[in-house]
Amino acid sequence: MILVFGKTGQVAQELATYPDVLCLDRAAADLSDPVACAAAIHHHAPSAVINAAAYTAVDRAEDEEARATVINGDSPGAMAMACAERHIPFLHVSTDYVFDGQGTTPWTPTDAIAPLNAYGRSKAAGEAVIRAAGGQWAILRTSWVFSAHGANFVKT
Ligand SMILES: NC(=O)c1ccc[n+]([C@@H]2O[C@H](COP(=O)([O-])OP(=O)(O)OC[C@H]3O[C@@H](n4cnc5c(N)ncnc54)[C@H](OP(=O)(O)O)[C@@H]3O)[C@@H](O)[C@H]2O)c1
Repeated sequence: MILVFGKTGQVAQELATYPDVLCLDRAAADLSDPVACAAAIHHHAPSAVINAAAYTAVDRAEDEEARATVINGDSPGAMAMACAERHIPFLHVSTDYVFDGQGTTPWTPTDAIAPLNAYGRSKAAGEAVIRAAGGQWAILRTSWVFSAHGANFVKT
């Protein structure tokens, strides 16, 4: 079984359509609580974990950076450490907001990061702790997510 953090978001709702996937909503695993996130992984004993939950309110993060950093930084780090302990893969979704937005060519994975805002810093913090956790991890940086669900730029 693949364990997915997030149930109501755009990415999570798409992942939920695949077989052998268990999606956890906020009530089942609150990313404000890194210990609870790690405990959920140990409790469900999945074969892989995907983190599709995040603090995604880019503008509001300016006033709530500490909270955004726990949700986007500390909790993904705790997930990555639990996965490393269990020797299972961990997939995390990140953002091009870790970059400074000044480039004129496509970013590469090894380009230096330089987040310009609180959301970008919180996502960069998550990337750093995931890398430090060891284990088998992958970080996907995307600039947009759009789907039939939720709010996104196509619908706007
Ligand atoms: N949307 C974009 O254009 C975009 C662009 C680049 C990168 N990303 C990244 O892509 C990933 C998925 O984005 P998305 O668009 O699918 O997100 P989304 O639709 O905004 O959904 C966010 C999800 O995170 C959950 N969540 C937020 N705070 C939580 C908490 N404290 N505990 C548990 N769950 C919590 C939400 O649950 P509730 O319903 O309970 O709030 C929701 O399920 C995120 O990592 C995001 O940073 C998104």
